[in-house]
Amino acid sequence: MTDPTQARDILTHARRLVIFTGAGVSADSGVPTFRGASADALWGKYDPYQLASPQGFAADPKLVYDWYNWRRSQLALIQPNPAHQAIAKLQSRGATIITQNVDGLHERVGPPGATILRLHGTIAADRCSICDHAEEIDLHHLPALRPCPRCGEYLRPAVVWFGESLDPDIWHAAESACRAADAMLIVGTSGEVYPAAGLVRLAASNRAKIVLVNLDPSPFDDMVDAALHGRAADIVPQLV
Ligand code: APR
Repeated sequence: MTDPTQARDILTHARRLVIFTGAGVSADSGVPTFRGASADALWGKYDPYQLASPQGFAADPKLVYDWYNWRRSQLALIQPNPAHQAIAKLQSRGATIITQNVDGLHERVGPPGATILRLHGTIAADRCSICDHAEEIDLHHLPALRPCPRCGEYLRPAVVWFGESLDPDIWHAAESACRAADAMLIVGTSGEVYPAAGLVRLAASNRAKIVLVNLDPSPFDDMVDAALHGRAADIVPQLV
């Protein structure tokens, strides 16, 4: 692993730090990632368009809803790992978290009330695609697929599916944070999904110093100031 000293210096001297995370930050907690060599990678085993698109839900709402309940039942048994804890420390010093994750693990250890910009929504809620009615989900008491109490349309997980737009307010807040950032810490993302991955280039073009922690080589390796390859739970605590 590259010497973490430079990475630690960048984070220590940052005044406007943005932390950009993906599924890899939760992998050490046992949450499967989506891509990559891991046998558990979800899109290696399941069809993303059948299970994570509005068309897939329209075609078979119960199949999709039950699959999310399966992921929720796993999350109910999972705990945040030392990478989440270390990131929460940076958050308590004023860092902004922008996450692609819907697993809620940052929220479990973050300072109470701290804003986390969730680009892809949350798995711990359902919403109606028609009337925007929303309901929180207790991961330990999972409801079945059911109609919206207001308009009768099926409620679906409050995540952003392929082909759907991100929440404009959250997106604009994320863009502003990256434009203003003097440093960015990237943890556990393949950088394959846009527009989220474009935030790294936005921060870089605004001269932010960038630290990357990822198990595998990433498309960002050549544009960051320090690239550390390995497990987030091992590396991130060393940087804080
Ligand atoms: N520590 C650090 N990095 C890890 C670890 C680990 N323990 N395990 C895996 N990784 C890295 C992998 O090398 C990979 O580059 O995390 C990355 C995970 O990539 P993806 O599975 O593609 O996850 P992500 O980038 O978050 O996906 C983006 O795609 O499917 C959609 O909406 C979903 O938010 C998700 C988006």
